[in-house]
Amino acid sequence: MEKDLLQLLGMSADDITLILDTADKLKAQQKAGVKHDFPSGKTLAMIFAKNSTRTRVSFEAGIFQLGGHGIFLSNADSQLGRGEPIEDTARVLSRYCDCIMIRTFEQEEVEELAKYATIPVINGLTDFEHPCQILADIMTIREHKGKLEGLKVCWIGDGNNVANSLIAGCLTCGMDVSVACPEGYRPDKKILDFASSVKGRRFELTDKPEVAAVGADVIFTDVWASMGQEEETAKRQKAFQGYQINDEIMALANPGCMIQHCLPAHKGEEITEKVFEEHAQEIFDEAENRLHVQKAIMYLLMKK
Ligand code: CP
Ligand code: NVA
Repeated sequence: MEKDLLQLLGMSADDITLILDTADKLKAQQKAGVKHDFPSGKTLAMIFAKNSTRTRVSFEAGIFQLGGHGIFLSNADSQLGRGEPIEDTARVLSRYCDCIMIRTFEQEEVEELAKYATIPVINGLTDFEHPCQILADIMTIREHKGKLEGLKVCWIGDGNNVANSLIAGCLTCGMDVSVACPEGYRPDKKILDFASSVKGRRFELTDKPEVAAVGADVIFTDVWASMGQEEETAKRQKAFQGYQINDEIMALANPGCMIQHCLPAHKGEEITEKVFEEHAQEIFDEAENRLHVQKAIMYLLMKK
């Protein structure tokens, strides 16, 4: 493992497998009431420039369950919100804490933080990637399907941060990936370049959900307007008409096809309430696995 976890693009299959195996182990220990083998008293600083329910609670609960402590820093009430440079924040937090989790806008800000921090940095979502989310999703798929290699995963909707991580992570783990996005809302070019360079796996990019869904073992979606894009909501509602997971789309997928949604969901937009509720078990298993995966990441990055 490298010092930081900033993105899935470029991460090795071995590192992803190590995180998933560690997450499975920590999950089993927690369910059995077995204490984790982890040095106590580690402190995680959590910087949030955007809203969060799952990421905040799962990181804070997770570090506590590992015997440590989480410190929540919002932009609004830390000096970051008053313009203190990220490189100074990195050097200060490195003197107090053992790890930093950051949720912000620009990926470059996270990279800058990691460059100046002497402690590990974890990306808790940027406009470019949401790596912890997709690691939890891959863990959930492996739990439900018993394997990853050879499965076909499908993304329907915005080619956003979650889609970017999905393409990088799922192709690296040996899955085929199909993506349906309207033109103008495609995944990042760096991600598409990676996808077209991967050998031995199928990657398909289309603007037709009914093409992407054929033979899928897992279908993913996410909101049409991400955090920071609120002003584009009306425009996006138009652009994404028809990019919905519904009964017609599910009928094209393989029998037993799973649904994954990072949440929060806008039911009636990117997914019907009916399909969401029929797959609620998988979707809330996915939300739960954020906790176990993030504990695994913290365990691996901080145990040294
Ligand atoms: N999926 C996810 O990251 O949720 P939050 O925005 O609630 O953290
Ligand atoms: N794409 C969404 C994910 C939220 C967890 C966003 O960035 O707002």
